[in-house]
Amino acid sequence: MNIGRNDMCWCGSGKKYKSCHLLFDDKIKRFRDAGHVVPNHKLIKSAADIQGIKDSAKINIACLDYVAEHIKAGISTQEIDDWVGKITADMGGIAATLNYEGYPKNCCTSLNDEVCHGIPSEDIILKEGDIINVDCSTIYKGYFSDSSRMFIIGETTPEKKKLVEDVKKSVEIGLAEVKPWKFLGDMGSAINEFCKSQGYSVVEEIGGHGCGLQFHEEPWVSFVSKPNTEMLMVPGLCFTIEPMVNMGERYIYEDEDNGWTIYTEDGSPSAQWEVQLVVTETGYEILSY
Ligand code: MF3
Ligand code: CO
Repeated sequence: MNIGRNDMCWCGSGKKYKSCHLLFDDKIKRFRDAGHVVPNHKLIKSAADIQGIKDSAKINIACLDYVAEHIKAGISTQEIDDWVGKITADMGGIAATLNYEGYPKNCCTSLNDEVCHGIPSEDIILKEGDIINVDCSTIYKGYFSDSSRMFIIGETTPEKKKLVEDVKKSVEIGLAEVKPWKFLGDMGSAINEFCKSQGYSVVEEIGGHGCGLQFHEEPWVSFVSKPNTEMLMVPGLCFTIEPMVNMGERYIYEDEDNGWTIYTEDGSPSAQWEVQLVVTETGYEILSY
């Protein structure tokens, strides 16, 4: 990179390079030279970018908070989609999923053995004992936020309740590994090891992603990775942690008719929680959850 010590830093801080990201770039280079995958500058969010993502996340979180308060047996998943659409529009945002590669709805609602990308429908009525993931993605002033939560409809079985709670715990275990100059694989392996220890299996084909300036950016984030592998985490890197965890086997298949919904092959229940974060100087900050 041809940037002089006394030039303005590439990050937009207005500071000189030598007193801003010079040491940061040197450090990244050492990791790259050692053979690691490292983020490029485009993936490093500025303070203004982070603020933009947080503003977007206000809408994202408001949608999920509303769902948390109103979800119950007897409603259709289309009603959830209507809430998300209305709240997002009222707050000046756009649902990122709507028309995304042809996806037809404002959010994803994945029930029981649906792993992800369940399509809201008037024909799907929530009933006592269901577990459901509601996944919302929001665009506001060009910034993307993305998070999801699980909900239990009334009382469910102890096994399904434990799955829902354990997957949330796995995300927290993963978060504890998020520190600058560690690797995504440190986080992913911690999640996988915990889930395996509880007898579950983590889906391998679908993972998390960078998020902020676009819906899905680099890096792709695995939750079955190995320590000391995958992309180096550095301050300003934004991504999601969103493991899909099956009570049974890890294998999945896609709905042939709608081309979106993913199910567990063995019909076992699956759960997912999704958090969006930014790596900081000391660890991480949650942007949406
Ligand atoms: N919100 C999902 C994610 O976490 C993406 C869904 S894409 C869709 O990445 F089109 F299926 F909605
Ligand atoms: Co996501």
